[in-house]
Amino acid sequence: MKTLIKNVEMVDANGRRFGKVLIEDGKIKKVYKEKGTVKTAYDKEIDGRGYQLMPGFIDMHCHLRDPGYEYKETMETGMQAALKGGYTTLVAMANTKPIIDEAEALKTNLDKAEALNLCNLIQVAALTKGFNDADLVDLEVLRQLTPVFSNDGVSILNSDIMVAGLKASSEQDFILLTHCQPETELVSRDVKLLEEIGGHLHVCHISKKVTLDLIVEAKEKGLDVTCEVTPHHIFASAMDYKVNPPFRTYPDRRALIEGIKDGSIDMCGTDHAPHSEEDKLKGAPGINNFEMAFAMYFTVFDQNGIGLEKLSEMLSDAPAKRLGLKTGLIKERYPADLVLVDLNWEGKLNPKEFVSKSKNNPFGGETLKGKVMMTMVKGEIKYDDNGQALS
Ligand code: DOR
Ligand code: ZN
Repeated sequence: MKTLIKNVEMVDANGRRFGKVLIEDGKIKKVYKEKGTVKTAYDKEIDGRGYQLMPGFIDMHCHLRDPGYEYKETMETGMQAALKGGYTTLVAMANTKPIIDEAEALKTNLDKAEALNLCNLIQVAALTKGFNDADLVDLEVLRQLTPVFSNDGVSILNSDIMVAGLKASSEQDFILLTHCQPETELVSRDVKLLEEIGGHLHVCHISKKVTLDLIVEAKEKGLDVTCEVTPHHIFASAMDYKVNPPFRTYPDRRALIEGIKDGSIDMCGTDHAPHSEEDKLKGAPGINNFEMAFAMYFTVFDQNGIGLEKLSEMLSDAPAKRLGLKTGLIKERYPADLVLVDLNWEGKLNPKEFVSKSKNNPFGGETLKGKVMMTMVKGEIKYDDNGQALS
């Protein structure tokens, strides 16, 4: 099967150019300049006129709730929501029921994802058994199945566990993702430990200026640390909607936007955290983000004069590089994980329109810019906004 996407502006971390892309056997076969002629025959043509073609988004941080909390989201509804949001690869956290702390459970999720054939899945393994902050999981066995370990949802308060986790992250070459609350205290401890012990650290959902300052300092020392922001922390401040970490002050929000501009923040995650209405009423933290994350990010980037190339770097190239994946760019021989976006679209966020099983999002009624029109995974159209594959 060969598909040609023509008349399109391609935007990735390396820049912008007009042209066309030929896709064959799930891969980007050839990238043509605007006037280049396509000499081979193809089966399908997509006219991208008026849209931008970007590499599929890679979410370093989401919650799919499967297994155990299927009333909030299933892997299938979560992936459908992700595809609607332009996400082609998901790093799914381990705070399911049971917690993913054994090979069998992890393998079950990978098999489920393969059978669904929607998004690419990287299933995170817990660092400790049942997130108990005391006993490490069987790192060696689980490392065969995932490059990412995290107790996200809860913090690692036991410093000995943090030491062991960092040590193992170098020895076994994985990334340790941390959820830090209290944020400043734990990030401060962790970068100090990183300096002493080494390791590969990724700090999830940073929300404060002081935390960012600590990470910048650590990077200046040459430590292997990356970090991510969420759509909600850069879109709003001082809201009392329950989310972990909470909404911060306006100066914190501004500092995060500056950190994006100057390159101190590496990636844009979603922390997609679906919850039922009942659970939200009981105080469950989290925001349902997949479907409008791109619009929220693009709106903030656009308002602050930050280019789409930078957004692509933070949504695709940086997470790909961190995860060691050969994807995240529009490049020949890379997987055809691609997204067509309409930057002229302007509309209101409406959680009732979510395909996610849950609708917990406090930004209903906000006017946003930028819409995902089509999402392709390995050359197959998995989401098509107007139902006609744009041709
Ligand atoms: O708000 C949050 N919700 N933060 C987290 O770290 C966990 C997540 C969840 O699992 O609901
Ligand atoms: Zn978290």
